[in-house]
Amino acid sequence: MTESDLPAARRICHSAFGTRFGAPDPENFWSDRDYVYGRFGAAHVASFTAELDGEVVGSNFATKWGSVGFFGPLTVRPDLWDRGIAQPLVRAVCDAFDGWGVSHAGLSTFPDSPKHIHLYGKFGFYPRFLTALMAAPANPGDIQERLSRYSELPTGDRGPADTACREIADALYPGLDLTAEIGTLAARGFGDTLLLWETGNRLAGFAVCHWGPASEAGDGCCFVKFGGIRPGPDAPDHFAALLDACRTLAASVGMPNLLAGVNLAREEAYRHMKGCGFRTEVQIVTMHRPNDWCYSRPGIYALDDWR
Ligand SMILES: CC(C)(COP(=O)(O)OP(=O)(O)OC[C@H]1O[C@@H](n2cnc3c(N)ncnc32)[C@H](O)[C@@H]1OP(=O)(O)O)[C@@H](O)C(=O)NCCC(=O)NCCS
Repeated sequence: MTESDLPAARRICHSAFGTRFGAPDPENFWSDRDYVYGRFGAAHVASFTAELDGEVVGSNFATKWGSVGFFGPLTVRPDLWDRGIAQPLVRAVCDAFDGWGVSHAGLSTFPDSPKHIHLYGKFGFYPRFLTALMAAPANPGDIQERLSRYSELPTGDRGPADTACREIADALYPGLDLTAEIGTLAARGFGDTLLLWETGNRLAGFAVCHWGPASEAGDGCCFVKFGGIRPGPDAPDHFAALLDACRTLAASVGMPNLLAGVNLAREEAYRHMKGCGFRTEVQIVTMHRPNDWCYSRPGIYALDDWR
């Protein structure tokens, strides 16, 4: 993908999902969010287009979170569906994963679509647990003392914060690393990363949050693209504190709702969210290569949805 492909890629992305969801005006579907401009050009993202007679007809994005890679959104112009155009786009992201040497690759998709499960199955991905996209009302209040926002850290403090975030992610799954995602968000400014500290200035958890029309959040939402808690006996309390903090952040940036995805294999995290006012809005399914837990397993307190 080149910069000049962006308008077409965005138009196709919106109209493909609009068509999939039966929207009356597919071209203007999801005009409240962006999945194309915000990912293109980031150091940890590889972007691809499919062309037919020199015209952009589809796109796909591979994202590298250290040892974990996921892809999407994959979209093809609706009048060209079922002609094999998506498959080279899936091959391209798989080649990117191989080149990066990720140990686990995945995606999320529609569990009710035989087409999608078949398409990704051809490339070795296998469906596992559902991911619930859950929402709860924002919660006005003061951001507590043991929280900070990454973009507000003095430049010299960002390096140690990166190291701490890397340490937590690595404890969730060896090599998992969100620092490129965090750095890109800080540079592009359509959200911020919340840092939750324990006594003794040790990082307990962090949440990469989006909001506004240039982000992936959608209207009225603060969206947790990734949240992670350091494993250990205090993890349940820290998870509760991080969710509360995200709800407060949502209110402070003028968003009425917090939206966060949790894989149902992370049983305790899912149960906690159900018990503290989150309601599932949509369920999607994650597909994995290899067919293994990665960091979607019992005992892990993490939030994401690989969309
Ligand atoms: C999903 C999407 C990208 C697929 O693009 P596409 O170009 O139509 O896909 P392809 O033609 O390359 O591949 C489709 C495959 O599914 C198969 N398929 C279609 N309907 C099927 C069904 N009901 N059951 C099983 N397989 C089916 C096709 O036969 C083909 O497989 P084959 O080559 O082995 O025969 C496109 O439909 C799209 O943009 N959808 C809207 C957005 C979206 O859903 N994106 C993906 C989100 S995870």
